[in-house]
Amino acid sequence: MEKEKLVQLAYEAQKKSYSPYSGFAVGAALLAKNGQVFLGCNIENASYGATNCAERTALFKAVSEGVTEFEAIAIVGNLKDAPPENWDYCMPCGICRQALAEFVNPKTFKVYLGNNDKPCKEYTLEELLPGGFTKLDLL
Ligand code: THU
Repeated sequence: MEKEKLVQLAYEAQKKSYSPYSGFAVGAALLAKNGQVFLGCNIENASYGATNCAERTALFKAVSEGVTEFEAIAIVGNLKDAPPENWDYCMPCGICRQALAEFVNPKTFKVYLGNNDKPCKEYTLEELLPGGFTKLDLL
């Protein structure tokens, strides 16, 4: 699937964001190796620490449905009341980088960041989580 299409799906996911506290709406679209796409949004909570990020919502949906092999994720995020010209690329937080690292090859897994009609940015997970702690460290 083209990265632009995955970014478009992340914008679809963003529409479901439950973010009354931060006002920052995030959407993610996680592409599995079998071609399935899992969408996720951020889900906030009055007890702020109970918030779940969009990326982990998508990841946990997939894993809980038995899908554990992934190719790429697209992420978009912006303040809901900000005009599109003020939007920026939304980097995945450290916890989400770590959660993804559990299930992917960080050298090949791609992270696409969308920003309205600007060109999407592209990273490998390894670039975003260099030297990460993984299950290999437990051997
Ligand atoms: N957020 C995400 O959903 N993903 C990230 O990687 C960064 C942060 C959410 C959490 C919270 O609901 C809001 O953005 C502001 O931090």
